[in-house]
Amino acid sequence: MRLPIIASLALLSGAAWADAPWGKVDLPAGQALHEKHCTSCHVRMYGGDGSKMYTRDGRMLSNQLELLQRVAACNSSVNANLFPDEEANIAAWLNQRYYHFDN
Ligand code: HEC
Repeated sequence: MRLPIIASLALLSGAAWADAPWGKVDLPAGQALHEKHCTSCHVRMYGGDGSKMYTRDGRMLSNQLELLQRVAACNSSVNANLFPDEEANIAAWLNQRYYHFDN
C-alpha cells in the first residue's frame, strides 16, 4: 500500500511551506525596497554595501520569524511605512541572499 507514504510526503512538504512566516513573496520587489529604504544606515555602520550587517559574527537572528520581526522593527523605527507584504518581500529576499534559514 503506497498511498500513505506519498500522502505523508505531501504533508511534510506542505508543512515546510506553511512554516515560512511569509507566504507568497516577490523577491525582486523585496530587493528593490531594501535598496531604497534599508541600506543607508547599514552602509554607514559597516561600509561596503552594508551587507555585513547580515553576515557579521554574533548576529542576533536565528530563524525566519525573527528575521521577519527584525525587518518589521527596523521598518517602524525608521518610519519607512512599508506594508506587511512589503516587509515579507524584504525578509524573504534577505533570507535567500544572506541568512538561508530553512525554518
Ligand atoms: C536608521 C538606521 C537604519 C535603517 C534605515 C535600517 N536599519 Fe536595520 N539596523 C539598524 C541597526 C542600528 C541595526 C543593528 C542593531 C544592533 O546591532 O543591535 C540594524 C539591524 C538590522 C537587522 C539585523 C541584523 C542581524 O542579523 O543582526 C536586520 C535584518 C535589519 N536591520 C533590517 C533592516 C531593514 C529591512 C531595513 C529597511 C526597512 C532597515 N534595517 C533599515 C539600523 C537601521
